[in-house]
Amino acid sequence: MTEPTENPAIEVYGLEDRSFPPSEEFRASALVRGSELHDEAARDHEGFWARQAADLLSWRRQWDTVLEWDLPYARWFVGGQLNASENCLDRHVEAGRGDKVAFHWEGEPGDTRTITYRELHAEVCRFANVLRDLGVAKGDRVAIYMPMIPELPVAMLACARVGAAHSVVFGGFSAESLRGRIVDAQAKVLITADGGWRRGKAVPLKASADAALEDTPSIEHVVVVRRTGDEVAMAAGRDHWYHDVMAGASTECAAEVMEAEDLLYLLYTSGTTASPKGIMHTTGGYLTQAAFTHKYVFDLHADTDVYWCAADIGWVTGHSYIVYGPLVNGATSVMYEGSPDHPGRDRWWDIVERYKVTILYTAPTAIRTFMKWGTTEPASHDLSSLRVLGSVGEPINPEAWMWYRRHIGGDRCPVVDTWWQTETGAIMISPLPGATTTKPGSATFPLPGIAAEVVDDRGQPVERGGGYLTLTRPWPSMLRGIYGDPQRYHDTYWSRFEGRYFAGDGARVDDDGYFWLLGRVDDVMNISGHRVSTTEVESALVAHAAVAEAAVVGAKDEVTGQRIVAFVTCKGDQTPGDELGQELRAHVATKIGPTARPRTVIFTDDLPKTRSGKIMRRLLRDVADGRDLGDTTTLADASVVDEIRRRAEAAPQDD
Ligand code: WT7
Repeated sequence: MTEPTENPAIEVYGLEDRSFPPSEEFRASALVRGSELHDEAARDHEGFWARQAADLLSWRRQWDTVLEWDLPYARWFVGGQLNASENCLDRHVEAGRGDKVAFHWEGEPGDTRTITYRELHAEVCRFANVLRDLGVAKGDRVAIYMPMIPELPVAMLACARVGAAHSVVFGGFSAESLRGRIVDAQAKVLITADGGWRRGKAVPLKASADAALEDTPSIEHVVVVRRTGDEVAMAAGRDHWYHDVMAGASTECAAEVMEAEDLLYLLYTSGTTASPKGIMHTTGGYLTQAAFTHKYVFDLHADTDVYWCAADIGWVTGHSYIVYGPLVNGATSVMYEGSPDHPGRDRWWDIVERYKVTILYTAPTAIRTFMKWGTTEPASHDLSSLRVLGSVGEPINPEAWMWYRRHIGGDRCPVVDTWWQTETGAIMISPLPGATTTKPGSATFPLPGIAAEVVDDRGQPVERGGGYLTLTRPWPSMLRGIYGDPQRYHDTYWSRFEGRYFAGDGARVDDDGYFWLLGRVDDVMNISGHRVSTTEVESALVAHAAVAEAAVVGAKDEVTGQRIVAFVTCKGDQTPGDELGQELRAHVATKIGPTARPRTVIFTDDLPKTRSGKIMRRLLRDVADGRDLGDTTTLADASVVDEIRRRAEAAPQDD
């Protein structure tokens, strides 16, 4: 460790002093109650992961070497052989758990399906046979563009069964995004649906797929699931209805024996910046860490828990925590197709009540939306089955964390804020709910077997204070590269700090050693030479009683370098205006300090977000600087920005 730098990489304020130890009641039946796992991993990093791999997975062949590390390339469980779909399905059926529910699925219109492990196994085997008949073999890539219906995990697991890598493209993406991803992966088959339900409307997927397929020579076959029943064009010889090809398929299908390091899937990261990267995940290490984290971070009791990860499978969260982690662990999950406000704003709480959900995993953007909608909806349902709440995707503001704990968790459930990335494959920094005293807004500590450090501009570890988040040791579910672009893999993650993986996030370590994520470092502002994290100013704003959501950016300023512009969404019952604007500016100045006081406050009904719910500060910077907008293709709702621009032009400027 070095002396604290004179010029800290990121200045931090540390406003939060509440803390929540696990309750005695929760601890009494928790899987982990103390530091035993952390201690074991600290004693023997490789031995620890080897024990998890042996405990959590079934191997066809035992590995010879736990880890081969040739920076930046890691190989885990080298020589080991296994199949992912066998680990998710066959072994549960063989162990007599075939009648256990794998998915309680619910469509947006209200239709439901209950799918046991035995049924899921049979359907996956049939579809794996279909894929083989269509010429899909070990080593191929298959693109998947589907709504949140059971055929989506079936398609993924069928790919895994025959040894083909899947590349799931989120159903909200455009034809152009789909085309680019198919071409990059040279996918041979596309699996899609006629459409899916979203806010009461049928979203036409096949039509987008057809547009994408005009220019994808690698695609030989398309399989289409009938979901909405809308009329779609079917190209003779190329397109096949799922129900037709499945009709005669056998439920017996030998799984391909895969090497631990064989490619399991590609997932393209939807950036708020730059062009998408095909993140590569392999089999043995990925499954080990997905299952390990799913079990211990959520304190999974597979026999009794009803677990619901409310993400879309199109994101890595759904890959690791709807499909692979829960199925490897033999869990019972809820899977929901549609939006949280259809038919009413209580849809989620209705689902929690009806299925008696015990573990809920969602994103800060959803929590802040519920905050905006108010407490009436959750209060009108019985949420007493819940016992663990998780958050992922963005820094969670302390006030949103507190709201989640109080209004969803009844002040009873531990909240686990989980930091990780598409690239890390699985959770990296998180509390263990029976062991860790949490602080609202902190992801707390690196998990057992994970080595994270915050460093300064020169790459020197910062023991206490702000800087850049890095990972210092390989972990089993780490990305194995960017598909077709090793140089970019090296440049993006391994070049900024010698010998370290750089995540692109800012973080600070507080006096107790807790990690606080500060957002992407591109989101750090520089006000008169003070580097201020957007997350902290946003959290100060959200801590004000009138505010539901806030996004803060640095706009160009001739005097101070940057000035802070705040975009604020109020709670339902508030009147935005100049007066409230002044009050909020003063509020931030009191909470953090005058440097962090926003120069301008712009009230808006909505914020521009990516389809995964991350605020696109890049676009807000464009608005604040009065520039033409950059690339808006990953934006969920493009009209939001026009509205914000109009308001920005009208907003008063203060100093
Ligand atoms: C980026 C990764 C991980 C699955 C969903 C997102 C941000 C993620 C947290 C958290 C603060 C977080 C980071 C990270 N992020 N979780 N708990 N606290 N920030 O995956 O799309 O690859 O995004 O999301 O900035 O780098 P992703």
